[in-house]
Amino acid sequence: MTNRSIDELCADLERKRAQAREGGGPKSIEKQRGKGKGTARDRIAGLLDEGTFVELDEQVVHRCGRFGLGETSFPGDGVVTGFGEIDGRRVYVFSQDFTVLGGSLGEMHAGKICKVMDLAMKNGSPVVGINDSGGARIQEAVDALNGYGDIFFRNTIASGVVPQLSVIMGPTAGGAVYSPALTDYIFMVEKTGIMHITGPAVIKAVTGEEVTSEALGGSQAHNTKSGNAHFTARSEEECFVQVRKLLSYLPSNNVDDAPWKEPSDDPLRLVPELRNVVPTNPNKGYRVHDVIGKVVDDGDFFEVQALWAMNMVTGYGRVGGQVVGIIANQASTLAGCLDINASDKASRFIRHCDAFNIPLLTFVDVPGYLPGTEQEWGGIIRHGAKLLYAYSEATVPMVTVVLRKAYGGAYLGMCSKALGADMVLAWPQAEIAVMGAEGAANIVFRKEIEKAEDQMSERNKKIEEYREAFANPYVAAERGFVDRVILPEETRREIYLALQGTANKRELRPRRKHGVMPH
Ligand code: HXC
Repeated sequence: MTNRSIDELCADLERKRAQAREGGGPKSIEKQRGKGKGTARDRIAGLLDEGTFVELDEQVVHRCGRFGLGETSFPGDGVVTGFGEIDGRRVYVFSQDFTVLGGSLGEMHAGKICKVMDLAMKNGSPVVGINDSGGARIQEAVDALNGYGDIFFRNTIASGVVPQLSVIMGPTAGGAVYSPALTDYIFMVEKTGIMHITGPAVIKAVTGEEVTSEALGGSQAHNTKSGNAHFTARSEEECFVQVRKLLSYLPSNNVDDAPWKEPSDDPLRLVPELRNVVPTNPNKGYRVHDVIGKVVDDGDFFEVQALWAMNMVTGYGRVGGQVVGIIANQASTLAGCLDINASDKASRFIRHCDAFNIPLLTFVDVPGYLPGTEQEWGGIIRHGAKLLYAYSEATVPMVTVVLRKAYGGAYLGMCSKALGADMVLAWPQAEIAVMGAEGAANIVFRKEIEKAEDQMSERNKKIEEYREAFANPYVAAERGFVDRVILPEETRREIYLALQGTANKRELRPRRKHGVMPH
């Protein structure tokens, strides 16, 4: 029994709370802000709807007595955790506090993160992790490593069950990068967000290569070169706008539907401008964004990984209020060919949509796979196989629109009927064939061309003959591989009706532990 009054006890609690809110103290906070970075609590406030945050484990401290840590402990142990709302929907968050021991992760810090992940799983809500940390807390040694292991395990179990988003607003180094890598999406803030396995000093020592931290693992590097990140932001504020926007397309968990939004844009309206976006000449480029933007509600397309593997476009939009995951070849980049990175980008996106009940809308204009030793030795066979695997595995409604070229294996790979498309629509200029007319005529009519007096004109004649016979949507439509040949202006309406027609799709597959996806 205590001799203290209730007022004294409450004052004690207020003092403890204030101490937790102080993080590493005013000096560290000033240093943090001086780098253009918010504190862990600023960031949670910037992310969540105002006044909705409920903090957990504010009073947790480490229990490490080694290397001077015995005398120093900070309530909260370098990470702020809890739950709140984004646009009125519950999310769980953790936000590492760099002002406390460099945001380093020890046993209790990891335990706090695991607790919110467990709660998010039990409640079916997304987890947003804000990373700003020097990595494993060196003083806690193997306890810190084990803490990472506990997080990786949960990341994996939660994958495809609740959305997991990682926000990189400071250093994330060594094995610590693997928690973000196991989540669905990585957002990075330019100049402050850094991710790498081995830093510049180790690289210099081992290989002699000199590189700055930013060039090695900054937002640009991961958004344009490595494909590890999905979004880049110029500021923390801009990053939170992106996170909130992404969540507006995602269901809270894998048994919910994506949030439906009352459309203000008539889903049945015709779009006459679509006639003139895609040139009928198969060698001419255009931006597929100009097609997507005219099809989705209010022209609102939210692109994912906009700066990497740009020959493949992925992102979210709505048609008639229903969220769709869009996958499209970009004819103006590498002629829209499929390559290793495009296959990886699309297949992961498809699997994410399928896991979270988001219908797939695929726009096809693909001449084939990118030729070359770099691609072949880099494993285009196994990477390209992922695309076939991802579409074949998906059981969400799938609508495909063939805009122009759909040749060979790439035609099959871009959500063809055989891989499970529920509705394949094709424009009149679609060319669904084993290859382009020129290549095909050279092979099929080789002998006739060789024998001809005027080989050039014979070749052109044969190319035209082949084009007339096969480079159109009707051969495929005659066999039912295309469900409907449509006018370009009807595209939005036809997609909407196709989505309506497949809205109750249920497809069961044989029971198995899991497939073995090509790697
Ligand atoms: C304990 C750490 C720490 C860590 C930083 N600090 N990282 N304390 N364990 N891992 C402390 C610093 O000692 C310092 O304390 C304070 O945090 C702020 O750090 P600064 O160095 O002053 O900040 P800055 O100059 O911004 O540099 C940030 C940094 C640097 C680049 C992250 O601190 C750094 O290189 N840290 C070590 C990174 C590292 O090697 N981590 C282990 C990686 S291995 P004081 O008291 O001076 O303010 C790993 C394995 C994970 O993470 C494996 C998972 C499977």
